[in-house]
Amino acid sequence: MWFVFLLFLSYTHFSAARVISTNECQQLRVSVLVSSRNTNQQSRQLILSWENASPATGDWVGLFDSETMNSPLQMVSSQSTNGWVYTDIHETPTSSGDLGYVSRCLGYWAGYFTAQNETLATGCLRTEPTWMSDMKPQLSSLLLRHIFLPGTHDAGSYTEYTAAEGNNLIFKYTITQEEDILSQLINGIRYLDIRVGYYPNTDEKWYLNHGVISIHPLRDILEDVQTFMEKTNEIVILDFHEFPVGFGSGLDVHKQLVEYLTTELGEYAASPGLTWDATLGDIWTLGKRLVVSYNNNNMVASSTILWSAVDQKWGDVQSAADLYTYLAQVMASSPPAIGWSANSELTPKALDIVNDTFHGLRNMAEMVNRNVTEWFRGEWGQRANIVSADYFRATGLVDEAIRWNKLKAQGTTC
Ligand SMILES: *[C@@H]1O[C@H](CO)[C@@H](O)[C@H](O)[C@H]1NC(C)=O
Ligand SMILES: *[C@@H]1O[C@H](CO)[C@@H](O)[C@H](O)[C@H]1NC(C)=O
Ligand SMILES: *[C@@H]1O[C@H](CO)[C@@H](O)[C@H](O)[C@H]1NC(C)=O
Repeated sequence: MWFVFLLFLSYTHFSAARVISTNECQQLRVSVLVSSRNTNQQSRQLILSWENASPATGDWVGLFDSETMNSPLQMVSSQSTNGWVYTDIHETPTSSGDLGYVSRCLGYWAGYFTAQNETLATGCLRTEPTWMSDMKPQLSSLLLRHIFLPGTHDAGSYTEYTAAEGNNLIFKYTITQEEDILSQLINGIRYLDIRVGYYPNTDEKWYLNHGVISIHPLRDILEDVQTFMEKTNEIVILDFHEFPVGFGSGLDVHKQLVEYLTTELGEYAASPGLTWDATLGDIWTLGKRLVVSYNNNNMVASSTILWSAVDQKWGDVQSAADLYTYLAQVMASSPPAIGWSANSELTPKALDIVNDTFHGLRNMAEMVNRNVTEWFRGEWGQRANIVSADYFRATGLVDEAIRWNKLKAQGTTC
């Protein structure tokens, strides 16, 4: 009798230690993301997300405000392989000037635990200012057009949320990001989709636009990019994709803009002679790490700094299902032989805006950002080049890019 009992005890003891996959493709991971929702007139609601769990009874995921993970701010039970739970906690933003250039956790940690409080995985709300240069030996042989780069759609249409502006129809349909450009870069973004408007009768002249609405002076973003180039050894693509206001049909205004960009960015601009067949190592060797692409072939042909435009694959769709259909067709085709972007955001039609059908771009980002994260976590990540999103911190794209690039460099497929 005693013998049987002891056997039982040792058996249960043995089974209590959970075997966790160390295979990088199926690793249990837990993370903290920042939602694009603005519920109760507040933005930056934190999300607990996990993947590849094999949940047992009593498993839970906790959000903490300290690395020691002693007392959870919030606990949620884990009953599914992948989870995505909105917490009651909102992030207090750190200004981009205070984020720093060493990867760190911004005040929030997450853990995945068993019923006995054995820790199976941990994560945090992490900045990634140096993820490329940290992996320089592994990434050097990858082509620029093969590496997975997290990007921001309409990078210059950012603003910190306020309840007053957040409910204004124009703000709801023009603002695509909450982080300024320096914060985007420090948080791991390496591709910026830029649209410039020309306003000759203003002091600034050049603005970042969303369509016909000007949002910030172009000068602001150039300064942020210069700062980031000086503080890090990262490679960044700045894609001048649209010129929605003031350029007319000739090249005169373009020439002025390119002259301005050459003055401001020449010191950092990678030579277009490298072409889109360059490896990251080629770029690091020459030491100029900013790829400036420009969506006008005449200007590219006559410039010493401009690369041909990134090929943006844009579905112009209004639902997650249609975005999937569109991107599935893009991912199944042979990739362009230049830098290319899977635009992973929804786009309202004019009447959707007038009717406020989808309650703004924050909500439209909310409709797809979980899906986009899961799609590119899967095999699409293997073939992706640039993946750009609205409200990127509500996706796990930076983490997925880092993980996939490691696998790509090893030649591993999942
Ligand atoms: C596990 O940790 C949670 C949160 O600190 C606590 O409420 C719970 O009692 C602990 N459970 C065990 C079995 O220690
Ligand atoms: C998007 O994600 C949600 C939540 O996981 C899921 O219910 C829905 O089916 C997904 N849509 C598509 C098109 O994959
Ligand atoms: C917009 O609202 C009008 C009037 O309420 C309606 O007739 C129309 O179908 C709506 N259009 C869309 C695209 O929702």
